[in-house]
Amino acid sequence: MPRPVHAPAPFPAARLRRLRRTAALRDLAAENRLSAADLIWPVFIREGTDVAEPIPSMPGVARLSLDRLLVAAQQAHALGITTICLFPYTDAALRTETCDEAWNPDNLTNRAIRMLKAELPGLSVMTDIALDPYNANGHDGFVIGEEIVNDETVQALVKMALAQAEAGADILGPSDMMDGRIGAMRAALEAGGHRDVAILSYAAKFASSFYGPFRDAVGASGRLVGDKKTYQINPANRNEALRCVARDLDEGADMVMVKPGMPYLDICRAVKDGFGVPTFAYQVSGEYAMLQAAAGNGWLNGQAAMMESLLCFKRAGCDGILTYFAPEAARLLRE
Ligand code: PBG
Repeated sequence: MPRPVHAPAPFPAARLRRLRRTAALRDLAAENRLSAADLIWPVFIREGTDVAEPIPSMPGVARLSLDRLLVAAQQAHALGITTICLFPYTDAALRTETCDEAWNPDNLTNRAIRMLKAELPGLSVMTDIALDPYNANGHDGFVIGEEIVNDETVQALVKMALAQAEAGADILGPSDMMDGRIGAMRAALEAGGHRDVAILSYAAKFASSFYGPFRDAVGASGRLVGDKKTYQINPANRNEALRCVARDLDEGADMVMVKPGMPYLDICRAVKDGFGVPTFAYQVSGEYAMLQAAAGNGWLNGQAAMMESLLCFKRAGCDGILTYFAPEAARLLRE
């Protein structure tokens, strides 16, 4: 429900600049605030020891080996970040059309979850559920002929979800956009003794060109055959996004996400007002890359633009934001 906004009295009874005069007054009157606890940090991981491999299309972001992940996670936790979200870069030999590595209990992601939960039990670990890091053709689902098949994919995603829950994940993040996945996962989690594992559904996930740098980061760009428009939402559609949210909540999602973030703030607001559930936005790789590119060229004040972009998610109704800026933003918030 839109809240009533008091119409200002005629000038000079109302001078709206009165409360903008000093930093103290502006702070006092601020309607929204950003804190480190609002941030979920997506991290790319890879095999190896003591490696941080830069991702050229995401300046400042690197794929981390698990030992480096642990150090980074400890620092993030100390800065007040509550949740880290893992994205694996899978070795080429393990990318197949059957995607078996996705539910291998000892795959890179599951080893990372176990390590983080053993070393840093107070940090929440979130995962991504989709086949793309394991798929020879870069799709989130199995490909048969020309089709990305739904029901067969859901069965595989359930296996993936159970393996991640088994490894100790706190939050599962299905990002695949298959129909029926949330219900299938929720039933399997209940039956498998994982009733307290939370699902943060990528419910309103659009077929966006802003995912390009991410696909570089997980090594899917060169492999992707075609596009994801038969399963991700058409950027033109708002009602459809709301139907996806309603459907995922009915099937057992605890929290929902809108993705990408900045071009979709209207969807964030509609979800928060329409459902009143924990609502998150993903400030995706392309949004990060745009801001970093402009800042790197001296065209924008990078820190100011970063903080403004994150605060605006709060104003749009989000409870939190997945952002590659999480550690830098948390550090600034601390100062
Ligand atoms: C894969 C997945 C994607 C992102 C998160 N999970 C890419 C895609 O759907 O192609 C994008 C994140 C980003 O761009 O930062 N299922």
